[in-house]
Amino acid sequence: MKHTKIKDLLAGSNLLQEVVAKGWVRTFRNNQFIALNDGSTIHNIQCVLELDAFPEETIKRITTGAAISVKGTLVESQGKGQKYEIQANTLEILGDSDAEKYPIQPKKHSLEFLRENAHLRIRTNMFGAIMRVRSTLSYAVHKYFQDNGFFYVNTPIITGSDAEGAGEMFQVTSLPLDGSAPKNEDGSINYKEDFFGKHTNLTVSGQLEGEAYAMALGSIYTFGPTFRAENSNTSRHLAEFWMIEPEVAFNNLDDNMDLAEDFIKFVIKYTVEKCEDDLLQLEARLIDEEKSKPQADRSEMTLMEKLKFVMENNFKRVSYTEAIDILKGSKPNKNKKFQYLIEEWGADLQSEHERFLVEKHFKCPVILFDYPADIKSFYMRLNDDGKTVRAMDILFPGIGEIVGGSQREERYDVLVEKMQALNIPEEELWWYLDTRKFGSAVHSGFGLGFERLVLFVTGMTNIRDVIPFPRTPQNAEF
Ligand code: 4AD
Ligand code: MG
Repeated sequence: MKHTKIKDLLAGSNLLQEVVAKGWVRTFRNNQFIALNDGSTIHNIQCVLELDAFPEETIKRITTGAAISVKGTLVESQGKGQKYEIQANTLEILGDSDAEKYPIQPKKHSLEFLRENAHLRIRTNMFGAIMRVRSTLSYAVHKYFQDNGFFYVNTPIITGSDAEGAGEMFQVTSLPLDGSAPKNEDGSINYKEDFFGKHTNLTVSGQLEGEAYAMALGSIYTFGPTFRAENSNTSRHLAEFWMIEPEVAFNNLDDNMDLAEDFIKFVIKYTVEKCEDDLLQLEARLIDEEKSKPQADRSEMTLMEKLKFVMENNFKRVSYTEAIDILKGSKPNKNKKFQYLIEEWGADLQSEHERFLVEKHFKCPVILFDYPADIKSFYMRLNDDGKTVRAMDILFPGIGEIVGGSQREERYDVLVEKMQALNIPEEELWWYLDTRKFGSAVHSGFGLGFERLVLFVTGMTNIRDVIPFPRTPQNAEF
């Protein structure tokens, strides 16, 4: 007999019928009540064993973590806490789990401990909820773009160029690492002998290739893994993260801001509707956690209130120059949480500056635009003032930068001049420059760090907890 997902059983669709459920035992009480979970929902189904109806041998093997198959009748539950349960008549142990050795005990584990057991942490309520929310958010991303006339483009993982010009790339090579690689006369490695006949890296962004596609298909998006060898061991950085990068021909920066705001609101709304049970569970965890904090540090809004706030309020749009004036006019608060004094125009904003603007000053998501050219990437459209570029960053409460984007420099001469000034070799990006030679036009796009979005929606605080197997400095265990 085919088994039914616990989510469907709990919806009561097979009431009074013979059903089969398969899953992993969460708890087993009084030799009689099994709480069974199969990952389809945060909720367990209770399987009730008639006393003495099962051999002692089987009963002993019903332990936390064991995989079992239960057959029985789905009935309305007399007990509290669940509407339906299975009155079991057949039980099969599919895979034993040594209760003494199974790391995921039915108790509260620390997030650090769970990170060390990333292969098993998904069997907890918290991680089940996070990963279901992540999956729904991914679907919402595709739904938004597909419903709005965007085409999904798969940009390469292995590239010959550094899209961000930040030099934070993982190198890819097929040459031997034992020193026997072919060398040039000066002793440097001869990459002409490498697999691709040149030096290659893992991509830091699919933007440049995405631009080429936008200049043909009109509206495109990418959604794939990107890699950065930046040595920032923070709760917001991963060495391997997923980025969503839409790119739209004929969009200017204002259109780009409208798109980003509309897109973010849609994916959050969609996920709140589809994942209510999971989000309520994550919210309950946060409310519990807040209780242990001093009153002053407690959050003013619950998770659901925060999500609703973002969906229903306009993001505040402020130029970099205005933001600097606000920061200059602000005073550090007493407990020195925000040391946000900024020296002068032209400085890059630190995360504490961003958090001050979002969390203390505006108290809502903020879109900062028109940044100094010197602190932004080469491809951004230079403004007429000659010193700022049409860049935008979206800053979120508790997260900081969640989106980075811009209107692109569409003028061939200006772009070439900029690349020369930054020593970016033209022969590396000849194909990119071609898009400015043949039918160039105004276009814009942005990149949204998917894990930062998942952080915001789940209310988690460490990015290592919202991706299945995180890669960070000194850590690629799984
Ligand atoms: O601001 P970034 O570097 O922008 C770009 O890569 C552009 N090429 C995007 C574009 O215009 N198409 O990165 C974009 C976003 C950041 O705002 C942040 O959310 C996320 O990617 N991000 C990271 N997320 C996790 N770990 C890291 N190390 C990240 N670096 C950037
Ligand atoms: Mg950025």
